[in-house]
Amino acid sequence: MSDGSSFYVTTPIFYVNDVPHIGHAYTEVAADVLARWHRQSGDDTWFLTGTDEHGQKILRTATANGMEPREWADRLVDSAWKPLLKTVDISNDDFIRTTDERHETAVTRFLQKLYDDGHVYAGEYEGYYCVGCEEYKQRDELDEPLSGEYQGQLVCKIHSRPVEILKEKNYFFRMSAFEGKLLDLYESQPDFVQPESVRNEIIQFVRQGLSDLSISRSSFDWGIKVPWDPTHVVYVWFDALLNYTTAVGYGTDQELFDRRWPAYHLVGKDIARFHAVIWPAMLMAAGVEVPHKVFGHGWLLVGGEKMSKSKLTGIAPSQITDTFGSDAFRYYFMRAISFGQDGSFSWEDLSARYQAELANGFGNLASRVIAMLQRYFDGEVPAAGDPGESDLHVQQTVAEATKDADAAMQRFAIHDALAAIWRVVDELNGYITEQEPWALAKDEGNRARLQTVLYTAAEGLRALAVLLSPVVPQATAKLWAALGASDALGELTAQPLRDAGRWGQLPAGIRVEALEALFPRIDQAAA
Ligand code: MSP
Repeated sequence: MSDGSSFYVTTPIFYVNDVPHIGHAYTEVAADVLARWHRQSGDDTWFLTGTDEHGQKILRTATANGMEPREWADRLVDSAWKPLLKTVDISNDDFIRTTDERHETAVTRFLQKLYDDGHVYAGEYEGYYCVGCEEYKQRDELDEPLSGEYQGQLVCKIHSRPVEILKEKNYFFRMSAFEGKLLDLYESQPDFVQPESVRNEIIQFVRQGLSDLSISRSSFDWGIKVPWDPTHVVYVWFDALLNYTTAVGYGTDQELFDRRWPAYHLVGKDIARFHAVIWPAMLMAAGVEVPHKVFGHGWLLVGGEKMSKSKLTGIAPSQITDTFGSDAFRYYFMRAISFGQDGSFSWEDLSARYQAELANGFGNLASRVIAMLQRYFDGEVPAAGDPGESDLHVQQTVAEATKDADAAMQRFAIHDALAAIWRVVDELNGYITEQEPWALAKDEGNRARLQTVLYTAAEGLRALAVLLSPVVPQATAKLWAALGASDALGELTAQPLRDAGRWGQLPAGIRVEALEALFPRIDQAAA
């Protein structure tokens, strides 16, 4: 992942049976931060997201709403899933729907190839199926409640709803043949599945032995037709996983595919198995390189449980952004939760961090420095004199934070990257408190020192704007404009991130403009 190399990042494609909640927005934001970071580092970046529209779950939801599945999917994509991207400021390069023709054509080609190469056979499937998960289940993945609505029935542990018993003639993918190769993959590429907790779980799962996978259904027809037997449709997960390749030219544009592939996949840990077991096995069978990485992030918990619509704990992203704004949404979830671990959401924590870190820590710093430049230098960034120890310390902090943040982003440790960048916020706040520019301003004899102090603060803000722009793009764009940096240095998003720590980029003599509060006080009643 050096400069100019390919960085292709994906989110799971979301089911259109329901509207998004903050758990879905969380994955989008994480992928977006990584994509913006890499784009701004000069990497050949591509960010894909989209929707998963086939299968029984969508079919049933559409039918229950008196609509055709395609019509239902169109409605949800336009009214809920695409708007989500605006709500949290997502900079995706493409949006794939599994009902797109480009996808359907390439899935058909992929499957035909597996069939021609002997990886698929006809058989009989008999077992449990959870429509909520769209997954075949083993007995140990089910509960038998002792009371309540489903007493005595077998229910899925994830959805707490009864599973169905399937007995169908299906086509099977010889996944069991890839057991050894998968174990070799996890061994030889230890960061293929991350974090470690998810990697260990996957290895344990595969070590217990893999069965073949039923990859077609014949009891309904909402799906992509199996090319050699149109009485079957492709199993929804087999269809869905392929989106990552069909969106970048698999089976249709080899040159594009070679440029983008392999990908970095961000997924919730609940669907890591599909991505780290079934998906690489499918690719191996087709002779396609496996992804660079499958990163299984944790869950957002509400009241200690995975937040979900089906359990009525879903919170709509706009409930947060309407009050706090999209930057605060992005910052909060990336900072408060170690990426890879579960995290509890609470309004109190969100409010507290908004006030302490964004409004007081960063926002105030920016407003104060700009206001002092206006007051003491008539809005012009002064030239700095020779730096003393404290000024050099600021420079060093900025350089180290840039290096540490980049290293953390390469590991997908977004929270660590933010913590590194925040050292600059804290350093600058401490520097201003110590240097007391307002006291220096009282004595003309301290003018040279005042110049150095305010240049140092302004240049520190320049670096902060660049480093934080992937996380809080709106606030940093305002700060960039107020610093007068656009004319002098060009667009904020064109500033090379890995160069952000190089001191002295902001030229003396540029004019700053008044800056409105980046993170205004929230009316407590609204929050
Ligand atoms: N359609 C499949 C994915 C196919 S990818 C080839 C799917 N869709 S989903 O809409 O149900 O879920 C999408 C993602 O949202 C999953 O990664 C899931 O983990 C994530 N989340 C759902 N609830 C979540 C939380 N409460 N917290 C964090 N992520 C959550 O699965």
